[in-house]
Amino acid sequence: IKKIGVFTSGGDSPGMNAAIRAVVRTGIYHNLEIVGIREGLNGLIAGKFTKMGARSVSNIINLGGTILKSARSEEFRTYEGRKKAYDNCVENNIDALVCIGGDGTFTGAKIFNEEFGIQVIGVPGTIDNDIFGTDNTIGYDTALNTAMEAIDKIRDTATSHNRVFFIEVMGRDAGFIALNSGIATGAIDILIPEQKDSLEDLFENFERAKKRGKNSSIVVVAEGEKLASVYTLAEKTKEKFPDYDIRITVLGHIQRGGSPSCADRVLASRLGYGAVVGLMEGISNQMVGIRSNEMVYTPIEEAIKKHNTINENLLKISEILAI
Ligand code: F6P
Repeated sequence: IKKIGVFTSGGDSPGMNAAIRAVVRTGIYHNLEIVGIREGLNGLIAGKFTKMGARSVSNIINLGGTILKSARSEEFRTYEGRKKAYDNCVENNIDALVCIGGDGTFTGAKIFNEEFGIQVIGVPGTIDNDIFGTDNTIGYDTALNTAMEAIDKIRDTATSHNRVFFIEVMGRDAGFIALNSGIATGAIDILIPEQKDSLEDLFENFERAKKRGKNSSIVVVAEGEKLASVYTLAEKTKEKFPDYDIRITVLGHIQRGGSPSCADRVLASRLGYGAVVGLMEGISNQMVGIRSNEMVYTPIEEAIKKHNTINENLLKISEILAI
C-alpha cells in the first residue's frame, strides 16, 4: 500500500486525536502518504480530504475531541453513498482506511470492505467500552475519571444536605462507566443493564444504609438501565421514603470531553501504530485492540457482534463495599 486515509466517526472520545497522530506519524515513518478525511463517513462520501504531514498533528496528543471532526452518517447506510465514497477513494488513490470509532463505524467499514475490496482496519474509539476484542476502548478511561470527579463533587452536597442523589452516567447499552465510577465513588447502589435490578433491592439498600447510620446516598445509574430512568427511580423512591430529600443529576456529554488521560493517550498511540502496521502486513476487515497488554487483531464482525462482559466479581465487590 502507498496511501492510507484516516477518519474518526460516531461519538467523539478523548484520545481520538492521539490515535490520529499515531496513524499519521507511523505512516510517514514508513514512507506512506496519509490523507485525513474530515467529518467521518460523511466526509468520505463528500470527498473532504486533507493531506496530513508529521507537523499537521503537532500539539494534539493532549486535546479532547477530534481535529478531523466526526459525524454519524445516514448516507453511508445506502449503497449509493458507499459507491460515492469508493469513487473518491479511487480518484485519490487511497488504498486503505483506518476507521476510528465504535460499532456503527465498524459496521459501515465492514460492508464497505466487502462491497468494494478496499482494505480497512478498525481502531476502537468510544467512551462506552462496549467493543469486543480490546480490554479498553479509547476514551473510556478519561470518561470514567470525569464521571468519578463529577460524582465526588456531587457527594459534597449530598453529605452537607443529607440528600439522596440519582446520577445518570453514559454508556449507551453498556454499564462499564456506571459500575466502575460507582465503585470508585462509594455508591450505595449501581444500576446497570447487564444485571437484573429491582425496586425492592434498591429500597432494601436504602433501608440498610439508614440502619447503618448513613444520612446521604449516591446511586449511580447507567443510561441504558432497563428497570427505569433516573426520573422514575427518584419518583418511586420518594413515594416509598417521603422524608428523603432527593436530587437527580444527568452527567451527559461532559463525559465525552476533555484532555485524554495518560492511559488513553498511550492506548491510542499503540492502537494507531498497530493499525498502520497491520495494514502494511495485509490485515483487513479487522480491528486492532490491546488485550492483556498484547496487541491483537479481531475480525470486525466479531468485534461488533460479541460484547465485553461485565466482571461479575466487580458487581459482588460493589455490593459488599456498599454496606
Ligand atoms: O457512544 C458514545 C455516547 O456518548 C453514548 O454513551 C451515548 O449513549 C451516545 O453516545 C450519545 O450520543 P449523541 O452524542 O449523539 O447524543
